[in-house]
Parts: sequence; structure tokens; C-alpha cells
Amino acid sequence: MTDLPEHAVRNRAHWDELAADYVSAGERNWAQDASWGIWSVPESELHLLDGVAGLDVIELGCGTAYVSAWLARRGARPVGVDNSPQQLATAARLQREHGVDFPLLLGNAEQLPYPDASFDLAISEYGACLWADPYLWIPEAARLLRPGGRLVFLTNGFVLMLCAPDEDGVAAGDRLVRPAFGMHRFEWTGDDSVEFHLSHGDWIRLLRANGFEIENLLELRAPEAATTQEFFVDSDWARRWASEEVWIARKSG
Ligand SMILES: C[S@@+](CC[C@H](N)C(=O)[O-])C[C@H]1O[C@@H](n2cnc3c(N)ncnc32)[C@H](O)[C@@H]1O
Repeated sequence: MTDLPEHAVRNRAHWDELAADYVSAGERNWAQDASWGIWSVPESELHLLDGVAGLDVIELGCGTAYVSAWLARRGARPVGVDNSPQQLATAARLQREHGVDFPLLLGNAEQLPYPDASFDLAISEYGACLWADPYLWIPEAARLLRPGGRLVFLTNGFVLMLCAPDEDGVAAGDRLVRPAFGMHRFEWTGDDSVEFHLSHGDWIRLLRANGFEIENLLELRAPEAATTQEFFVDSDWARRWASEEVWIARKSG
């Protein structure tokens, strides 16, 4: 697609290449009930899917689409959007294997082909909320949501991003290694992908500027039993500081 912005072209290539590595996590998550993020915090603690029956939901950057599967099994009507054909191919295969069907759309969460006010809930777990430009995808989510609709997204914690070194895969330490001011676009050494992270103040201002009231910011803690390094954080770090956070906002009615 030639009309994709540069970061989305790069991220499509990145995720098409990574897709094979995400098949087993997709299979595992499709086969079990909801748990969230890299530490698998149970849904029974977070309640992100409470009350979704009957809702029109858009998952922004669905990957293998297990979150949409959890939603569909709870009686919601999800649509899974993703920028990677290869990730969507895995999602489609898992739909067939599990007999759970919902629309899957190849697209950029920053600009989607749905009318205004089409959805009651927009959700993203390490999807567009991390890989798309927030100054584009947040206004688009606001456009797609009905008044009173909810936005839920889970991404890397702000403190983690302050402590994460530039080298891809190197674990965060207990020192601040980058400025907090001006945080936005990230490129890692040794990796062609582009990520986006904001400070808490910038998230709050951006959400409010787009008509959202912030209901909660859940700072996730790695469970006692976690012992591994996941991505660029290890479990000791993630028991002391929030490596992941969930923003919950509601579009003003
Ligand atoms: C880590 S996966 C998220 C899915 C799943 N929840 C997970 O954690 O594995 C990230 C997904 O975001 C998708 N993505 C990246 N940029 C996107 C964009 N601009 N619009 C839609 N999807 C995007 C990627 O293609 C990839 O499948």
C-alpha cells in the first residue's frame, strides 16, 4: 500500500517477518481464557472485559486476534484490525480451528474505513497503541467510538521506557537512560521498527483533547511467580516498577 506512512510501511515489514515467532503465543492465548500483557495478569484481577456482551468492538492492532476471540466468546461483536498480512493469516487460521468467526481487516489503525461512531469499545494490547502514532490513532479511535464508548489500551510503562537502553533486547536497569521530556517516536538499534511512547502528562492531554475522560490507569506488577526476562524487562524489575500500564478512558457522551 503506497498510502501508508513511513513508520507503518516499516512496521508492516517488521511484523510480517516476526509473525512466525508469534504463532505459538497466539495458539496458546486462543486456547485459554483472558490474561494480559507479558506477565499474563489474569482477567479476574483487571476486569478489562467486564460487560462487553452485545458491544461493537474494534481491536486496533489485533495480531493473532486472541483478544478479539476472548471478546467474541463473551458475546461481543469484535472486528480485528491489523497492519500485517502475515499476522492476520495466523488469526484467520486460528478462527477456523476454534470455530470463532469475526471480521479481520488489513489496515492502519491511524485511518480506518468505518463511519463515525461505529463502535462501543476500542481495545489494544501492545497493538496500535504501541506501533502507531498516538497523535493519529487516538483521534481516529475517538472518531470511531460512540458517545460513552470506552477506550482500553495496554502498553509499556512510562518508567520502563525511561530505563530501557537503545539496544534491542537489552534489559532495562535501575537508572534513567533517556529524557522524559519530548518522548514520542522510538527506533531501536539493530531493528527497523518504529514505536511510539508518551509521558503520562502527554497521554492525559492527548486523550482529553480528543474528548476522552480518563477513568483509570492500571500499573501492572509482575506476579511473584514470574522469573523470566521478557522482551527488555526482567521479573525482578517488574515487581519493583510498573513495566506495563493499562489506560481506560471514556468518550464524553
Ligand atoms: C504485539 S502484536 C499485538 C497483538 C497481540 N495483542 C500481542 O500482544 O501479541 C502488535 C501488532 O500491531 C500491529 N500493528 C502495528 N502497527 C499497526 C497499525 N498502524 N495499525 C494496525 N496494526 C498495527 C502489528 O502488525 C502487530 O500484529
